[in-house]
Amino acid sequence: MTHFSLPPKSKVKPGAVRNTAPAGAKNVRTFKVYRWNPDTGENPCLDTYEVDMDSCGPMVLDALIKIKNEIDSTLTFRRSCREGVCGSCAMNIDGTNTLACTKFLSEVKGEVRVYPLPHLPVIKDLVPDLDVPYAQYRAIEPWLKTDSPPPERERLQSHEERAKLDGSWECILCFCCSTSCPSYWWNGDRYLGPAILLQAYRWLADTRDEAAGERLDQIEDPFRLYRCHTIMNCTKTCPKGLNPAKAIAEIKKMMVERRT
Ligand code: SF4
Ligand code: SF4
Ligand code: FES
Repeated sequence: MTHFSLPPKSKVKPGAVRNTAPAGAKNVRTFKVYRWNPDTGENPCLDTYEVDMDSCGPMVLDALIKIKNEIDSTLTFRRSCREGVCGSCAMNIDGTNTLACTKFLSEVKGEVRVYPLPHLPVIKDLVPDLDVPYAQYRAIEPWLKTDSPPPERERLQSHEERAKLDGSWECILCFCCSTSCPSYWWNGDRYLGPAILLQAYRWLADTRDEAAGERLDQIEDPFRLYRCHTIMNCTKTCPKGLNPAKAIAEIKKMMVERRT
């Protein structure tokens, strides 16, 4: 029988316990937060923080910012917009990939467990290395490509043509979907994954774009596209309510249609 286990240096150990709540605080919650510092050579650990919720905002990101501001300035995570638009605060909270800024603490029962997005190398603490996903994004050439001469003004679309982009333009490239996809876990270097394929579809569906054939050639590959096995984790986890699995199915349909 095959045994799978983490390499010794990857095993997550218990970490420090830090209490931020003042004595007598009645509304205290416990956070278990993944920590890893590449400079120490130590294993990753789970630090424990007790946070007084009476002086904390309602979102997981509010608690992380409070911990960083008031107890442990070394805690490292990405965030920017604080309203679900930039995609930078994506992490694994309570076992699900989501955005810390739009995840209500009231939706988490008991201890709040916070890890980085899974199956990506970690740079530090909750910050994953997104070099590979962004290289994959560059590879699909995410810009309008045309051969026809530019019109005097805009390249116009009807309302119906514009509506074809609904469900893909809203993607904020948080990579919650790709890092929840088992196919991407095992073949992330070759499979483009749901986030990038949704972006690829965004350009394929754009009636102003004139490079559909070239775009389809570029992703028609047993790994780049066809590693999607319709497991649907991507759609289930997307914090923006998008359906990357459907976009992938649409691309596969385009592949079939261009052969007939
Ligand atoms: S539907 Fe495809 S892309 Fe989505 S999780 Fe499943 S295998 Fe991954
Ligand atoms: S499809 Fe959803 S989960 Fe995936 S990158 Fe876009 S917004 Fe994030
Ligand atoms: S901080 Fe921008 S999406 Fe969360």
